[in-house]
Amino acid sequence: MSKTFYVTTPIYYVNDVPHIGHAYTTVACDALARYKRAAGYDVLFLTGTDEHGQKVQKAAAERGEQPIDLANRVVTRFQDLWKALDVSNDRFIRTTDPAHHRSVEELFRRVQANGDIYLGEYEDWYCTPCETFWTENQLMEGNCPDCHRPTDRLKEPSYFFRMSRYQEPLLRHIEENPDFIQPVSRRNEILSFVREGLRDLSISRTSFSWGIPVPGDPAHVIYVWFDALTNYITGAGFPDEEDRFSRYWPADVHVIGKDILRFHAVYWPTFLMSAGLPLPKKVFAHGWWTVEGKKMSKSLGNVVDPGAIAAEYGVDAFRYFLLREVPFGLDGDFSREALVHRINSDLANDLGNLVSRVLAMVGKYRDGVVPRVLSFGTEGVDEGLRDALTACLEQVDAAMDDLAFHKALTSVWEFVGVVNKYVDTTAPWALAKAPEKAPRLDQVLYNACEALRAVGLLVFPFLPGTGREIWRRLGLPRPVDEGRLEELRTWGGLPAGVRTERGKSLFPRIEVR
Ligand code: MSP
Repeated sequence: MSKTFYVTTPIYYVNDVPHIGHAYTTVACDALARYKRAAGYDVLFLTGTDEHGQKVQKAAAERGEQPIDLANRVVTRFQDLWKALDVSNDRFIRTTDPAHHRSVEELFRRVQANGDIYLGEYEDWYCTPCETFWTENQLMEGNCPDCHRPTDRLKEPSYFFRMSRYQEPLLRHIEENPDFIQPVSRRNEILSFVREGLRDLSISRTSFSWGIPVPGDPAHVIYVWFDALTNYITGAGFPDEEDRFSRYWPADVHVIGKDILRFHAVYWPTFLMSAGLPLPKKVFAHGWWTVEGKKMSKSLGNVVDPGAIAAEYGVDAFRYFLLREVPFGLDGDFSREALVHRINSDLANDLGNLVSRVLAMVGKYRDGVVPRVLSFGTEGVDEGLRDALTACLEQVDAAMDDLAFHKALTSVWEFVGVVNKYVDTTAPWALAKAPEKAPRLDQVLYNACEALRAVGLLVFPFLPGTGREIWRRLGLPRPVDEGRLEELRTWGGLPAGVRTERGKSLFPRIEVR
């Protein structure tokens, strides 16, 4: 059986329509999932929607509709966007799915059976937009310290989770597993938070009803974060599909935004410890996007609609920008100017140009047919090209293990640069003028096409449409979706005699006005 790799996105609230922040995490996870499939892993890639809780109930009430109707309407916005952005999730989970309902109940029961749930009374300040309770001294001028919006005073009977019990075990786990929380700056934040002490956590509400009832006490609904976090085990088959669950759980990585790290790096692991389940191997918190230097917000009217950007500039160009522009983990700024700059320099000039010049030469000098060769060449340039690919494969692999998408792309583009240089140095147009150089011309064209085959597969996780198109134009019999990185380890996998197609420019330059 092949090795498994389980990657998750956060599940998105349905009170809002998708924006660039949602697209960012999902596209990053997609690139990782596609890369791991190409590396031979049996991948489970999960995304979905978070549909319960006060926030969704309130949004539905404001529109005069039932929460489930709101959820049914908005969920298709997310599903359609993922299709449009070429996202290859294996499963889409909704917290209103009956299977998830069973999973949350079961997790609750296990935590309860371990003596970690008791009934008490809760009185504190509640921020509905963040679905978070705050103590008096955590507030900032009476407002939520995270989003700065007003909070409400809430007092209600509530079930509590004995999170305090897990302070020491959690600390030990974080200390013994340096990769558990990444990047390291975020890990340090969580370490100091946990060292300050963990309070027991209120995990039920009686003030509204849109949620999963507490088993045995239906006057309470389970806290939306307890419900939502459980999606990660439901998605792997908990509790009914035992084989599947033991195959994929624990997850290899939960990818999230930095604002929801505490839920994932403190609450979630302590719930799992209490229930006797293994912890995810890694939680990676990425940064936030601003738009033209400003915080993105509905009131500023600067919310970036990922579907519209992809339709205007191309899905792959948008995906490339998201993953290349900013080191994963840091904050970044979105602007059309920066996007256009990336498209023109990296996509049109470097990649697009390489593909079109190589295929044009095969068309011109060899009627579009990949030549047969006796050897792949022994000149320094030939060896340099092969070595560059070997180095690139290693660098990309290491970068992907660190979720350093920008580094992986930089390495691939370095290889693109080497191939462009190979064409410049070997100068096929000069070889074509001398009939006795025909065998060398064959070799050079073959090597350039073989390098393109590698480029097609290497860009595929990030730019799926482009990878597919490169393989199709090369006349390869299989779609790149089935390609394996392993096949790039020996030079010469491209079959001779296949008919290539020149095609039109992959990334036309965008004029800057
Ligand atoms: N439903 C919860 C997650 C539950 S996971 C068990 C939630 N949903 S959300 O829809 O509000 O946000 C989802 C993600 O979008 C978060 O990871 C958040 O960091 C991310 N982003 C929201 N705005 C963002 C930016 N401006 N930039 C980057 N990511 C941002 O939280």
